[in-house]
Amino acid sequence: MRLKNNVHSVTVFAPATVTNVSCGFDIMGFALFQPGDEVRLTITDRQGVTITSIEGGNGKIPLVAEQNTAGKALLSMLQALDLPFGVEVEIFKKMAIGTGLGSSAASAVAAVWALNQFLEEPLNKEELLPFAMEGEKLTSGQQAHADNVAACLFGGFVVIRSLQPLEVIALDYPSELHCAIVHPQLELKTSDMRRILRQQIQLKDAIEQWGNIAGLVIGLQKGDFELISRSLKDVIVEPVRGKVIPGYQQARQAALEAGALGSGISGSGPSLFALTTSAEAAQQCAQAMAQFYLQLNLQCDTYLSPINPHGPQIVQIED
Ligand code: HSE
Repeated sequence: MRLKNNVHSVTVFAPATVTNVSCGFDIMGFALFQPGDEVRLTITDRQGVTITSIEGGNGKIPLVAEQNTAGKALLSMLQALDLPFGVEVEIFKKMAIGTGLGSSAASAVAAVWALNQFLEEPLNKEELLPFAMEGEKLTSGQQAHADNVAACLFGGFVVIRSLQPLEVIALDYPSELHCAIVHPQLELKTSDMRRILRQQIQLKDAIEQWGNIAGLVIGLQKGDFELISRSLKDVIVEPVRGKVIPGYQQARQAALEAGALGSGISGSGPSLFALTTSAEAAQQCAQAMAQFYLQLNLQCDTYLSPINPHGPQIVQIED
């Protein structure tokens, strides 16, 4: 594996992601423009991965590479490619952790995309995905999930058709789609929010859910907003998680009344998303949800974004 000889340091931004999108637990997701994380890698002769600083994250993110999502992803890529160098890593968390916006995935994706820039023949996104997933496994407990890393790395709206073998499908979607995010300032661990889920489901629920998944995919491909709206419903996961997210039902209802096509839990929560057909409608939904949380005395961050088709972006390359 040959290295570019003029690259000393690379900084990459990788975006937040909304996953599950109500009916597609663990198999669907899309990327936002903001927020996101940045990772800066500097090449060194010292083998391995040395995390030198983490800005943001409230001191809760481990500096030990093996326990850090970006560090673990980098270690697996350095080892698999047998790269003859090491990297120093600076992580700039631009979003809170435990939000349901794929913060750990964003750091892992930014890290592998940055490392890829040192290679004379960079890997493609399909080849990079398993390394990013190695990092993400640290957050999920037993079961790996690829929806955050895939949406972050590929950008746009994706379906994970299969984990083994890993197969990601990019969906067409109407460009009018906008997303409102409201993050009530609580922190929920993905591993905890996975542990509370039922391992068995009723056949009638499965039937309703896969009807909705098919409807959502077809609605996105055809730009049929009515169909998208009817399909944004989860009868399996949100009913369980909704019980531990304060105000989930009412905030979701506030978004629907403000004109959302649909609204639900982003990833494992506590953030809620609402999908709309315009930036103005997204703004109204965010306001309606935020106002509701204020009544509960819960401060929240809001984000508005169309769907980001790009995935990670290089911020800076230094010689
Ligand atoms: N699909 C995952 C879950 C995403 O819902 O647990 C975690 O952010």
